[in-house]
Amino acid sequence: MSSYLFTDAKDEQPNLRLAIVGPEGSGKTWTALAIATNLGDRVGLIDTENGSAAKYRRDFPFKHLKLSTFAPLTYVQAIEAAATQGFDVLIIDSLSHAWSGKDGALEQVDRRAAGNKFSAWREVTPMHNALVDAIVGAPMHVIATMRAKTEYAVEQDGGKTKVVKLGLAPVQRDGISYEFDVIGDIDQNHNLRITKTRCRELDNEVIPKPGAELAETLKRWLGSGDPAPPGADPDVLERIRDLEEKLAAAGAVSLQQFSQGLRRYNVKAVADLSAADATDLLARLEAKLAQVTEPPADPDPEPAPEPAAEPSPYQIPEAVIAERQAQLDEQNKARPAGSRK
Ligand SMILES: Nc1ncnc2c1ncn2[C@@H]1O[C@H](COP(=O)(O)OP(=O)(O)O)[C@@H](O)[C@H]1O
Ligand SMILES: [Mg+2]
Repeated sequence: MSSYLFTDAKDEQPNLRLAIVGPEGSGKTWTALAIATNLGDRVGLIDTENGSAAKYRRDFPFKHLKLSTFAPLTYVQAIEAAATQGFDVLIIDSLSHAWSGKDGALEQVDRRAAGNKFSAWREVTPMHNALVDAIVGAPMHVIATMRAKTEYAVEQDGGKTKVVKLGLAPVQRDGISYEFDVIGDIDQNHNLRITKTRCRELDNEVIPKPGAELAETLKRWLGSGDPAPPGADPDVLERIRDLEEKLAAAGAVSLQQFSQGLRRYNVKAVADLSAADATDLLARLEAKLAQVTEPPADPDPEPAPEPAAEPSPYQIPEAVIAERQAQLDEQNKARPAGSRK
């Protein structure tokens, strides 16, 4: 088929990227459908949960695509297909499988990691980046759901070692939240707590049983032509422009790619970036420049440092935490009192 597809001319409006994070049964699929069907006329849903979204076919009008392999590049193909089929809104339910599901990024690394994890990630990271780019560049609104995992940390408390709960994090690559305009955590009572938003009206909101009303708020924001609250430090903006020129001069990023990259933040010009987005973009560009200007490889290199540990994709079961806590308590008891700090 020809890729030169003529479509109805539309007002240029930024596309929404919304993420809904929650445990099973919290309302990710339902809420995504309730918002999507109020946001646009044609809704497509990529289903990685064994067709479970199909149970809502009588509640909401949408088209359904079931995936059975969750390789990041399979998602890319599905997103491209959705664009060709002209959906107004695409739901990705869920994006977590591209990370920790069958054939997802972590499994792909494991499969290649017989030799060296570092070189396995070198192959898999571009696939995951392609998925992020497909989401950011999709010519429609995207609502992604993600499973929530509970994050834990080990802390010292008066000579005792304690396991403490930090909160919820989406099962996906660290930093995935930068790719979304609005993120909400949903709980078992279907309350959506907004944890990040470029839409000021939603700042710190907790929305019970979200649906049509939230869609209206989002539509107003998208139509306002002021998606990101401006206010970035002029020095930061200047450094971004400077890096842009350096990268272009080094042939690493073309100006066209650069302006496409701004779509990630729903702005057309550097000057429109919010403070947080400008900081994020600056960090990305600095990292890119460091890559480009890396000195040539040392002919007799030191052994490569171990790459940073990847975050665990799995929620740690409560039983394991309890067992670990019991072990730590035992150790605390076993130590003579004088040795405790
Ligand atoms: N926003 C909402 N408004 C009203 N009911 C909801 C909402 N979200 C979830 N529910 C109810 O909760 C049930 C489970 O939601 P579902 O989206 O399937 O959970 P998840 O996808 O997180 O596993 C739905 O069948 C619906 O009855
Ligand atoms: Mg679901």
